[in-house]
Amino acid sequence: MNNKEKELIAHAKNALKFAYAPYSKFKVGCAILTKDGKIFTGTNIENASYGLTICAERVALFKAISEGAYDIIKLAIYTESKVFTYPCGACRQTLIEFNPNLELLIINEQNQIKRLKLSALIPYPFSKDILK
Ligand code: THU
Repeated sequence: MNNKEKELIAHAKNALKFAYAPYSKFKVGCAILTKDGKIFTGTNIENASYGLTICAERVALFKAISEGAYDIIKLAIYTESKVFTYPCGACRQTLIEFNPNLELLIINEQNQIKRLKLSALIPYPFSKDILK
C-alpha cells in the first residue's frame, strides 16, 4: 500500500467519528481520492424520517463533485464491522457515473483490506451512453 492509500484510509477512519447514525447505530466513514491528490470525506447521515438517510459514499462523492473534483480514482470505506461493507446499489450507480474503474478499498474493524473495482460490483449499470 502506498502513502496516499494510507492517508485515504486514515481519512475514512476519521470521518466515521462524525457519522450521524442514531437509529441504525451503524457508522460508516468514507474518503475519496481525486486524480490530482485531493481527498473528500463523507459519513452516513440518518434522519427521523428514515428513508431520507444518505450513505457515507454519496456524501463524499457529492462533496467532491460540488467542488468541481470530477476525476475520482479511489474510494475507501471503513466500518467497525467484522464483515466488509460493500456500497449499496444506489451508491454504486451514483459512483459509476463518474468512474467505472474506480478502485475501492474496503476496510473492516480488523484492518483487513478488500480491493476491488467498482465495475465488478455493478456489471450492468444504467449508462449515460444510452441518453446520447
Ligand atoms: N450505509 C452507508 O453509509 N454506506 C453503505 O455502504 C451501506 C449503508 C449507512 C446507511 C445507514 O445510515 C446505515 O448505514 C445502515 O444502513
